[in-house]
Amino acid sequence: MTKLNWGMIGGGKGSQIGPAHRMGAQADGNFVMAAGALDVDAERGRAFADTLGIASDRAYANWQDMLEGERTREDRVDLVTVATPNATHFEITKAFLEAGFNVLCEKPMTMTVEEGEEIVRVAEASGKICAVNYCYSAYPMVREMRHMVATGQIGKVRTIVANFSHGHHGDAGDADNPRVRWRYDPAMAGVSGQFADCGIHALHMASFIAGDEVRTLSADFASTISSRELEDDAMVNFRMEGGTVGRLWTSSVAIGRQHGFDIQVFGETGGLRWASEQPNQVFYTPVGGRTQIMEKGEGGLSDEAQRLSRVAIAHPEGFPLAVANIYVDLAAKIRGEAHGDFPVAADGLRSMAAVHQAVASAKADGAWVDARPPMFR
Ligand code: NAI
Repeated sequence: MTKLNWGMIGGGKGSQIGPAHRMGAQADGNFVMAAGALDVDAERGRAFADTLGIASDRAYANWQDMLEGERTREDRVDLVTVATPNATHFEITKAFLEAGFNVLCEKPMTMTVEEGEEIVRVAEASGKICAVNYCYSAYPMVREMRHMVATGQIGKVRTIVANFSHGHHGDAGDADNPRVRWRYDPAMAGVSGQFADCGIHALHMASFIAGDEVRTLSADFASTISSRELEDDAMVNFRMEGGTVGRLWTSSVAIGRQHGFDIQVFGETGGLRWASEQPNQVFYTPVGGRTQIMEKGEGGLSDEAQRLSRVAIAHPEGFPLAVANIYVDLAAKIRGEAHGDFPVAADGLRSMAAVHQAVASAKADGAWVDARPPMFR
């Protein structure tokens, strides 16, 4: 089978998310890294591209050059990943979609709801893929939970409790460190700090597992380190279209919590629990019964969980392979082999609406607000 050509913007040397994309895209042999504008510093980006085996004429100084360079090539990239800081996602994603490229955009997809709606429209008009990297949804055991809910194994979902709370910005003495400070600066991060950074992963996960969307929410935001303009801790209560009650806590000052992403789903006949730090296990408790630990790779799991599991039972599979699962389904969709099961622009838009509405709610002392983007009301 011919490999697909893949390019990345951002994700340069030393970046946080770049390695997961490079490993994920290439893990299954579907994509070859053919082009990139990897760094805000052109020379550093080119030098890094060289170490990755990208040909020098496809190691671009910036995304605009990459767009022009790739546009006319016969072997143009089949997929472009946008792994730059948040404020650049909109213009890069829009430009590549309009030029007829498939795009995988990092979260948050845009900075505003209007931009999010624009991306949904542009993606639809282009007929191209616009995926958004809510990669936690591609862990095999998360797919198992979604399957269990969809097949009625825990009954109607009553309540979801989701957390994405870590303690890595909990040191007030380090708050001025430039790598930390920008995340709480509205000029750089937008209207929300921690909720837009981590909370939206948890909110997306709740919708993904429940097979339902968030309709209303009420938020309490706090800047527990007083020099911060944006929130470093948030509690968001929500209600889903089908009536499910949601509780979401996200924090960056929860000292002692490391990655801190976990979710519990409570249905009428059973409960489920999953944590990103032990992603190979789901805890399942049937009503009136004992808690069982379900392991990735064991017999009896859904086809979907088996499909996305690569190594034998008890061998850890981690974050890069969850990202790889997104790329597997992108490759299948690009090749026309399958419809592709990955988060799309509409999911990115829903997150942006939730972020902006949570900010409005927090400013109004937690008033309940419509969480949906105007386009979907
Ligand atoms: P980072 O600051 O560690 O790295 C950003 C990279 O982009 C650097 O290599 C920088 O030189 C490059 N860059 C900046 N502006 C650029 C431009 N205009 N053109 C080309 N390259 C440019 O940032 P990090 O943490 O890797 O985050 C990048 C994006 O990924 C963010 O939107 C973030 O929210 C998202 N992210 C998503 C995660 C997930 O779980 N899906 C996890 C971590 C980050």
